[in-house]
Amino acid sequence: MEFHVAVIAGDGIGPEIIREARKVLDKVGSTFGHTFHYEDLLMGGASIDVNGVPLTDETIERAKAADAVLMGSIGGNTSTSPWYQLPPNLRPEAGLLKIRKELKLFANVRPAYLYEELKAACPLRDEIIGDGFDLVIMRELTGGLYFGERGTTEENGVLTAKDTLTYNENEIRRIAVRAFDIAGKRRKKVTSVDKANVLDSSRLWRKVVEEVAKDYPDITLEHMLVDNCAMQLVRDPKQFDVILTENMFGDILSDEASMVTGSIGMLSSASLNETKFGLYEPSHGSAPDIAGQDLANPIATILSAAMMLRYSFDLDQEADSVEAAVKQVLAEGYRTGDIYSNGCIKVGTTQMGDEIAKRIQK
Ligand code: IPM
Ligand code: MG
Repeated sequence: MEFHVAVIAGDGIGPEIIREARKVLDKVGSTFGHTFHYEDLLMGGASIDVNGVPLTDETIERAKAADAVLMGSIGGNTSTSPWYQLPPNLRPEAGLLKIRKELKLFANVRPAYLYEELKAACPLRDEIIGDGFDLVIMRELTGGLYFGERGTTEENGVLTAKDTLTYNENEIRRIAVRAFDIAGKRRKKVTSVDKANVLDSSRLWRKVVEEVAKDYPDITLEHMLVDNCAMQLVRDPKQFDVILTENMFGDILSDEASMVTGSIGMLSSASLNETKFGLYEPSHGSAPDIAGQDLANPIATILSAAMMLRYSFDLDQEADSVEAAVKQVLAEGYRTGDIYSNGCIKVGTTQMGDEIAKRIQK
């Protein structure tokens, strides 16, 4: 089959991790008889440098026309990069938020899985890790504080800044449905995370999630306050299957969840709309400090490409082959610096991609 993939390499380590993901996709193509056509698109700092804005309308249209979008990472060093001298709506991150909104990518799926081979990189004690853990964060991605009304005003010489957190019941319902659907294919438990002891938006969240739960009698629903969830993720991550939460809480908890797996360099993500279309990107950022040095771990991006094969292209066997190749490479001891431990074979970005591509098989 043929697939059109819009590729946003982005900034920092983006281009090098995307290069490795494409290498692996091409190997999948030659092994299974598919052709992936890539179209390079600019977003973030790379787009600011060329177009003066982090995302153009043309890029949005081209992304929409593709079968899926594969993204590296965007943004630079916030204290030194000239991009951060620009007004907030012209900075790299504004491009990412805009494309999420324009493509209606409301459901952000972030799996956090502890590989047996990477236990040594996990910062938790052995008795907490036990047999490992395997959870998914379902983060609402196009509402809440990220997209609410905001502004800064000055009254009588006093500056006041405001951000607003708004959700309507439809926005909550559609993400909750996604979370229950995913839980149905896993261990059948949804933990809905909110701050219902303080926020109205969280009280509505809880009410709607409970309504949705009625359609899924075989799935266990529990509610957890976000501060408790932050604690439980390091106290006992095994208790979680699917964590369902709003945009900002999901942003914070997904970084935490990734760190307990040993490295944020391992974690993939998919941002989906109501159709098969999705944008696939690693959960990590652009790491400008190590860009261009062959140090970045390309695995999160490669696993994001695997999610693209599975969710947007229905190529389950192909996605399995990528995930199996990653596991095999880890089992054989290959490690980039971020997941390195004594006795392993230290490799750079390029070799990690080569080793994974080599092990793709039918
Ligand atoms: C993420 C990132 C983004 C977010 C930034 C870059 C705007 O942290 O995808 O988690 O906050 O959503
Ligand atoms: Mg984040």
